[in-house]
Amino acid sequence: MAALTAYDQLAQRLRQQPVRWLVTGCAGFIGSHLAETLLKLDQEVVGLDNFATGYQRNLDEIRQSVLPEQWLKFRFVNGDIRVPDECHRVCQNVDYVLHQAALGSVPRSLADPQTTNAANIDGFLNMLVAARDAKVKRFVYAASSSTYGDHPALPKVEENIGRPLSPYAVTKLVNELYAEVFGRCYGLESIGLRYFNVFGPRQDPEGAYAAVIPCWTRAMLLGEDIHINGDGETSRDFCFVANAVQANLLAAATTIPEAVNQVYNVALDDRTSLNRLFKLLQETLAENRPAVASQAPSYRNFRAGDVRHSQADIAKARRLLGYAPTHRLDEGIRIAMPWYIERFSSSDCRGA
Ligand SMILES: NC(=O)c1ccc[n+]([C@@H]2O[C@H](COP(=O)([O-])OP(=O)(O)OC[C@H]3O[C@@H](n4cnc5c(N)ncnc54)[C@H](O)[C@@H]3O)[C@@H](O)[C@H]2O)c1
Repeated sequence: MAALTAYDQLAQRLRQQPVRWLVTGCAGFIGSHLAETLLKLDQEVVGLDNFATGYQRNLDEIRQSVLPEQWLKFRFVNGDIRVPDECHRVCQNVDYVLHQAALGSVPRSLADPQTTNAANIDGFLNMLVAARDAKVKRFVYAASSSTYGDHPALPKVEENIGRPLSPYAVTKLVNELYAEVFGRCYGLESIGLRYFNVFGPRQDPEGAYAAVIPCWTRAMLLGEDIHINGDGETSRDFCFVANAVQANLLAAATTIPEAVNQVYNVALDDRTSLNRLFKLLQETLAENRPAVASQAPSYRNFRAGDVRHSQADIAKARRLLGYAPTHRLDEGIRIAMPWYIERFSSSDCRGA
């Protein structure tokens, strides 16, 4: 029989000794998967969200996927991380914070840097202060691969970052600086997870700021035009959401002193071009919707603020956290597509 991974062992331990977690941004994509996984491990979960980009239906899906007695261990607070009192309230008696709430998207931050700043920097600082005052055991937060900015090296190694290429990237860099300073000045333990293009069910396919996988999937399913920014050879390290969930739980639980107050890449250490991604999505969807096979993309200008290539070195997370990604890109796509197919098969799918 295969040996248990660090994550398997952690899951066993958590089931035996449940603790209390705060997941901010829990009505969003990654936050909803964190809350769902924790509830399935019989944990107590407090979820905070203001529905800026999250949805009640994500919470409803969590409810449907866990046992009734597990759902009873979930408390949702409709609140805003920009309000210090609300941050203090939700941190009470919490063991671990998994801070996901933020405004994602590089283009959104270019269009409206102040609103992004308020959620991602003011809100982040409010959460750090609240976590410090509540004496939580650890503060794990969503950092970003955008922090590598214009640094040309590939794969990306945690200590070599470049200059930020967007207001969003500035906010995520500032998060890391604040977390480090809170460790040094107040002894708050934190771990930052630099996500690289996380994808999976519930990632929002709607609106101008949708990420590439949900955006293209939606367009393929609705027979709409698909645009590739640039020549299609731009590449990304696409990471299925279960891998990101694993990294969060391992980061919260690690007892290795050198592992704490650090940042980690969370991805696969792989690189897929947009042209290849298009084909993969098309082939997978065409199994269910044959008409998708005949769609062709159109190419347009490169997008401002985008880096050309991105690939993570994940050796640090493997070594210090025991991180071992369970899903490759094609496996993740295969799991994610049914969610989108179901979503866009209802008669009123456009307004969903
Ligand atoms: N998805 C990715 O590929 C990716 C990559 C790098 C970093 N990240 C980071 O991961 C985190 C989660 O991203 P996601 O993809 O799940 O996005 P998401 O938009 O689905 O989730 C973010 C959640 O935060 C909530 N939120 C925003 N502002 C808030 C506020 N002021 N108060 C309370 N809640 C607020 C939103 O309503 C939403 O539910 C974010 O911090 C994002 O910057 C994501």
